[in-house]
Amino acid sequence: MRIITFGTFDVFHVGHVNILDRAKALGHYLIVGVSSDALNMSKKGRNPIYSQQDRIHIISSLRSVDEVFVEESLELKEQYILEHKADMLIMGDDWKGKFDHLKNICDVVYLPRTPSISTTATIEIVQGLS
Ligand code: CTP
Repeated sequence: MRIITFGTFDVFHVGHVNILDRAKALGHYLIVGVSSDALNMSKKGRNPIYSQQDRIHIISSLRSVDEVFVEESLELKEQYILEHKADMLIMGDDWKGKFDHLKNICDVVYLPRTPSISTTATIEIVQGLS
């Protein structure tokens, strides 16, 4: 089973490790689309703290991850799934229901987020320290 998932994975944290490990456990090959800096800017209204190149480097170095590519647009999920021959799309449940229209080309599974941690919250805590 080939699994695909997407995310920015900025300021890498344990919630990111958990979702990638759980995604991998559902199949044998894990493909990760890492949001480009430009996509992150349009999605979240700010540049990531870590550059696209460094975020890709971090995700590529993980034991659970077999392949990484740059996600240039949120609208291209169908194309990415077909190109990478993915059997299952995994998303955190903050996206619940948003990708159900892709169920005609692959399984779509939403996994519960790890509680009490996020990149945005971490950035806000660190900003508050200065
Ligand atoms: N994720 C998770 N548990 C968390 C945080 C993130 O399972 N506590 C998952 C998301 O659901 C997504 C992936 O990790 O599938 C990448 O999420 P990303 O948006 O990069 O991380 P966040 O910490 O949610 O970032 P932000 O706070 O900027 O939204």
